[in-house]
Amino acid sequence: RGKRAFIAGVADDNGYGWAIAKSLAAAGAEILVGTWVPALNIFENSLRRGKFDESRVLPDGSLMEISKIYPLDAVYDNPEDTPEDVKSNKRYAGSSKWTVQEVAESVKQDFGSIDILVHSLANGPEVSKPLLETSRNGYLAALSASSYSFISLLKHFIPIMNPGGATISLTYMASERIIPGYGGGMSSAKAALESDTHVLAFEAGRKHKVRVNTISAGPLRSRAAKAIGFIDMMIDYSLQNAPLQKDLSAEEVGNTAAFLASPLASAITGAVVYVDNGLNAMGVGV
Ligand code: NAI
Repeated sequence: RGKRAFIAGVADDNGYGWAIAKSLAAAGAEILVGTWVPALNIFENSLRRGKFDESRVLPDGSLMEISKIYPLDAVYDNPEDTPEDVKSNKRYAGSSKWTVQEVAESVKQDFGSIDILVHSLANGPEVSKPLLETSRNGYLAALSASSYSFISLLKHFIPIMNPGGATISLTYMASERIIPGYGGGMSSAKAALESDTHVLAFEAGRKHKVRVNTISAGPLRSRAAKAIGFIDMMIDYSLQNAPLQKDLSAEEVGNTAAFLASPLASAITGAVVYVDNGLNAMGVGV
């Protein structure tokens, strides 16, 4: 039987989540996605109207199929812990069962189990503020959306993951080196995500034979990255300074995710894998 993947954090065809879905589909996996509730309508309509058809083309010429799109807000674990004003917000009221626990239950009901879990989402409301000017709420919101969201997804999906399954998240070098402009606690959130990758690899490996890895990706002009505001500078910097002076394509990250999710990577867990044209290895810019 082919493998089944749930990819959280796909709302258009520009980001890493979409590219990972395509690489997994090309390798024969069935694709389920979790889409942020406020972005759901536009994503579903665009998909239906054929706006993504060109980017759905797989290497064999067929179009990537998404078996089901689930509304998801990974900041909320279950209905009991979700504030009333969010539930009644008109962007949320039109969808149901979008907390992490409910999405995992729905996937279980619809498909029984999954083999691959991908976390490709982040959010930091104060990302444009330096860390020194970040509020407590902004900092905690960045950690909640970008780091705890992975713990919550793993916790709720692991009971329906087949042994030998794999999970992957996306991180950024700003966790370990100073990248001015990646503020609001987002650098802290990525540091937590990487540290948690180690601890969760141990716990999920022992408990369920599930692997946990994270990809430290180079800069990509995604919707989220454009919102931060310095993405073109980061792409230029990488072209100037990285060992490989070429564009980084989302597909290169997608292919690495497909490898990490496959039996070819059966002994790799707890790893931070750099897919950044080697930029992380440089000590100084030249
Ligand atoms: P993207 O905009 O394609 O993906 C981010 C997704 O997160 C969006 O679909 C958004 O709707 C979703 N999202 C935000 N808050 C959410 C929530 N509470 N619940 C559910 N979904 C939520 O952008 P991108 O850049 O592809 O981001 C994917 C991952 O890659 C993120 O973890 C990001 O930090 C990471 N990354 C991105 C880099 C870049 O240069 N674009 C570099 C290194 C890592």
